[in-house]
Amino acid sequence: MPMLEVSDLTVRYGALEAIRKVNFSVEEGEIVALIGSNGAGKSTTLRAIVGLVNATQGVTRFGGRDITALNAAARVRNGISLSPEGRRLFGRMSVLDNLLTGAYSVSSRSTIKTMLDEIYDLFPRVRERRHQLAGSLSGGEQQMVAIGRALMAHPRLLMLDEPSLGIAPKVVAEIAQAIERLNKEKGLSIILVEQNARLALRLSHNAYALEHGEVVRSGRGAELLADPFVQKAYLGV
Ligand SMILES: Nc1ncnc2c1ncn2[C@@H]1O[C@H](COP(=O)(O)OP(=O)(O)OP(=O)(O)O)[C@@H](O)[C@H]1O
Ligand SMILES: [Mg+2]
Repeated sequence: MPMLEVSDLTVRYGALEAIRKVNFSVEEGEIVALIGSNGAGKSTTLRAIVGLVNATQGVTRFGGRDITALNAAARVRNGISLSPEGRRLFGRMSVLDNLLTGAYSVSSRSTIKTMLDEIYDLFPRVRERRHQLAGSLSGGEQQMVAIGRALMAHPRLLMLDEPSLGIAPKVVAEIAQAIERLNKEKGLSIILVEQNARLALRLSHNAYALEHGEVVRSGRGAELLADPFVQKAYLGV
């Protein structure tokens, strides 16, 4: 049984159907990439999975349970966490306080301590900067904090919305390495949304391409990398 299974997921914003009958699944321990151009519905899909927007149709199952009726807080408690597009940190709060906002659903102090240590181990720069205002960090460092904040919820499924957006190539490589480590060493399941399709497909086990709110291609990451349609549409080949 997949860890996450999304069936016929449809989201409307007023008259606009942002995603339409989207179907996909994530197996335990898997990295799944969602690729697609601007406005394809990638962020909407993630927001619907974590319950930040209501689906107008469809069923979401997580850990064998139908979570369609659960709100965002309950979904986070169940182990789904989102690092949103554009980072959305509190710029005038310290890095540490930003991280702690991610732990609002966690009551165990020892879990909070363990997660902080894991994040600092993953991103030593975040540890060094923990008392600095988040707004004073570089874009790449802020992205590390945003991923850290999502990890503070102690998720079983981590969803990352465009972690490479607007970040220098060297830092993108560091973040990619962190994503691989979280998956390989902690067994964390990850949904990775990227406009950098090459990066996402390279990191992922399975992948889905969205266009105008619909899934138009799916397969192993390596298969999609070699697919002429994907190469032409998303890889600039
Ligand atoms: N809050 C909203 N209200 C109305 N329309 C929205 C809202 N959020 C997104 N949309 C629209 O829904 C569609 C899908 O947007 P979404 O943000 O999910 O795409 P995306 O694939 O994440 O794009 P990008 O790569 O630019 O981040 C777009 O047409 C967008 O304009
Ligand atoms: Mg988006």
